[in-house]
Amino acid sequence: MTTDPETIGMVAGWLHEARSVVVLTGAGVSAESGLPTFRDPEVGLWAEYDPMELATIGAFERDPELVTRWYHWRFTKSRDVRPNPGHDALARLEALLNALAPGGAPPFTLITQNIDGLHQRAGSRRVVELHGSFHRWRCTRTGREKDLADLSFERFPVVSDAGGLMRPCVVWFGETLPPEALEASFDALARCDLFLSVGTSATVHPAAGLIEIARAAGARTVEINKDPTANTDAVDAAIGGLSGSVLPDLLRRMDELASGAPARDT
Ligand code: OAD
Repeated sequence: MTTDPETIGMVAGWLHEARSVVVLTGAGVSAESGLPTFRDPEVGLWAEYDPMELATIGAFERDPELVTRWYHWRFTKSRDVRPNPGHDALARLEALLNALAPGGAPPFTLITQNIDGLHQRAGSRRVVELHGSFHRWRCTRTGREKDLADLSFERFPVVSDAGGLMRPCVVWFGETLPPEALEASFDALARCDLFLSVGTSATVHPAAGLIEIARAAGARTVEINKDPTANTDAVDAAIGGLSGSVLPDLLRRMDELASGAPARDT
């Protein structure tokens, strides 16, 4: 793990050269916005609950009120925070790469495990939500989806007009990932030449295995994370640091490369 300027400069060079970039993000990218990561201990109201146990179909079936309240609390918290410089840098990276390669296959795909919608709020457009989103909910009886904005959370759990319980359109432990999200991820990985894993502990499959698919496709692999993970020793470059600092730094270096200016140490 390193934050040394040479490694950051080298990765900026790879980004500058890349024709197709895939970025996988996790909860760490939203941490600097003030949202707790999955494996950080919760604070306040939910401190006594283990997120791993609440994010399951079993928990919802046993106690739909508790699980619905938890997701509503998480949504309320995410609504009250703003995207941070890490989200902003990824949105800018997408715009930059799209401008360099207009038409043809998209040169940038953001695959996120986050369900908070902060990437989209920062301006990212091509976002694959691997674990769904808590902005959409569906009736467990009819399967009909509704935007969260169209639901009333005056009573918990929320019951649909058809009398079914409403659940968030997120992937719970033990559930399969949305096939269209997996397909979009595999498509992007098959043609990617640079893969960045940012702010994820890389412990939950299949997301954690995407890096292997990128490597098999011949891509360079990079990790940007606050702490070492299972991938740290296997990637081509590991940058230890906060995504809200490292990503803007990489963008600055790319700007310098694009303008031909000498890279400065930061
Ligand atoms: P985790 O909570 O497992 O990991 C977050 C990672 O981000 C950790 O490795 C932290 O060290 C790192 N981190 C924290 N703050 C950071 C920062 N500012 N900059 C960079 N890195 C930082 O979250 P995920 O990997 O997203 O799944 O978890 C994956 C999935 O497991 C989640 O989507 C969720 C969860 O259980 C489901 O709900 C299905």
